[in-house]
Amino acid sequence: MRLPENFVQEVLDRTNIEELVGRYVTLKKTGSNLVGLCPFHSEKTPSFTVSPDKKMFFCFGCHAGGSAITFVQKAENMEFVDAVAFLADRAGLPMPRESEAHAPGESVSRKRVLEANLEAAKFFRACLFDPAIGAPGMAYFREKRGLSDATIKHFGLGYAPDTIGSLTDYMHKKGFTDEELQVAFLCGKSRKTGRSYDYFRGRVMFPILDTSGNVVAFGGRVLDDSKPKYLNTSDTPAFKKSNHLFALNFARHSGAERMILCEGYMDVIAMHAAGFENAVATLGTAITPNHARIFSKYTKQVVISYDADDAGQAAAKKAMQILGEVGIDVRVLRVEGAKDPDEYIRKFGAERFSRLLDASRTGFEYQLDTILKRHDLSVGQEKIKASSELCAVIAEYSSAVEREVYLAEAAKRLELPIEALRNTTEKIRRKKYEDYRARESRDARATIKNFGDPINPEAAKDPKAAATEEAIIGMLLMFEEYRREVAAGRILLEPTDFITDFYRRVFQAILKLQNSEQGFAFAMLGQDFSPDEMGRIQKAEMARRELTQNGPQVFRSTVENLRALSEAARNKDADLQTRLENIRKSKLHKRKGQDE
Ligand code: UTP
Ligand code: MN
Repeated sequence: MRLPENFVQEVLDRTNIEELVGRYVTLKKTGSNLVGLCPFHSEKTPSFTVSPDKKMFFCFGCHAGGSAITFVQKAENMEFVDAVAFLADRAGLPMPRESEAHAPGESVSRKRVLEANLEAAKFFRACLFDPAIGAPGMAYFREKRGLSDATIKHFGLGYAPDTIGSLTDYMHKKGFTDEELQVAFLCGKSRKTGRSYDYFRGRVMFPILDTSGNVVAFGGRVLDDSKPKYLNTSDTPAFKKSNHLFALNFARHSGAERMILCEGYMDVIAMHAAGFENAVATLGTAITPNHARIFSKYTKQVVISYDADDAGQAAAKKAMQILGEVGIDVRVLRVEGAKDPDEYIRKFGAERFSRLLDASRTGFEYQLDTILKRHDLSVGQEKIKASSELCAVIAEYSSAVEREVYLAEAAKRLELPIEALRNTTEKIRRKKYEDYRARESRDARATIKNFGDPINPEAAKDPKAAATEEAIIGMLLMFEEYRREVAAGRILLEPTDFITDFYRRVFQAILKLQNSEQGFAFAMLGQDFSPDEMGRIQKAEMARRELTQNGPQVFRSTVENLRALSEAARNKDADLQTRLENIRKSKLHKRKGQDE
């Protein structure tokens, strides 16, 4: 049985991977990841990592990895479909029945979901402005959050009454079916009766619009401190979280040269109300490479303006990296004296916030300040530590010009000669490169030694081709844009260019998903690949993530390399064929001569 992609996606969205894995493994927090001892091979030092943001796990020791589904498959020894059922049950979602003529979701079009959303947005807004129903929501917006009616109307904010069926009844009257409401994620389906119930209840509602003005999703916030604070629409035929930014529909017309990236809906609204109409936010998720691509379409500079707490600052550092990777000029703003930009503006006003924006530092300056703050430079030992930490940061930049600029800045602040810092930085870069090469050849050797590598047996025959293929697959997994370019034929890459059967299959599966109505989702590869194979695929992506060079140039040239390699392999084959043919002919000739 093949499961509909949006159902699998919904199961994953409702699965807390940290909590799931935590039942099998004791996990410790490090930065935004969690680590523990791998449950799939024996080890004494933890190399098993879980990333709640990316919703995946990976073991650097045994290369097990994948989504929550892959984890259940391995831990419970289950098939893909059974693992999905296991997680669906935990999340209280009924499995689609095989006997259903069509899987839910597939029969409901994107257009219909958009129509339902628009109608629901009207309903939520009407509720908010109806004093008999919307008073709690209105009081929240006006008094608690200090929003004017103009702002409330500008963003089309609303209120979902605290009832089981108000929206459901309204939508039924407007001609929407239960299936449509459930697929649009406006209604849940009762486990007992199978009937629809309002998904958002007793919440203030934030409609999310795409750049064409369609209502694609909603975020809904509770009015008190209960949990979850926000409910968001999961992926539907009309919505994929990582394809949208909140308020981009306004921000792209703001005419500003830069955009401001905030953590939350309320930050964005406060900024727009204060005149910063270039503010946007991701939707209940950390920023992904895909978001970075969207930014690069609209702007050259992004100012990250996250919450002042540690989580916000850690997220800012990651966002810096992801945005930097697509060549955006990244700035970071540090809010002091308030927990987030929303509170800052309410406390100190727009004028001061504007000054804060102008003073936002480049990603490097931000890291420079953070590192210098941590060390007492009057102590020699501390100064050495600070300088090696800084050199490690500078070494990450792939552009030599950038490195020079930052070296000069660091030298000035540390009062050290630039040559000394330059040497250290170059040494770190060389070491990184050597480590990478060593790891690559170690992996390749291991593959050769494991003669009969069950996952990719052909890699032993042509390790170079296999490594090139792995690089391409890794970048395709990371960037939607590369998948699009290849799917559209703007970058020429075909299944026949792949030399190993394994990566050819992976490539074909990626393309198939990319071309499907729902688009690409990593976890869906689990339908066609075993958990061990999923680990290998995850490794391809992990290996690329560790490198800073994943830009379009690198992708194109890696693809060119592979095409050259496979061309050569084909020629060699053809060559061999002609030579064999010649030998056969000459033997025949000789034999003929003997016969005569
Ligand atoms: P915050 O907790 O910082 O929310 O989460 P906020 O926007 O500042 O909200 P207020 O000011 O308390 O009202 C930042 C963003 O993370 C997502 C939402 O997109 C939120 O805007 N989030 C947070 C969720 O999706 N679910 C949650 O339970 C919490
Ligand atoms: Mn916040």
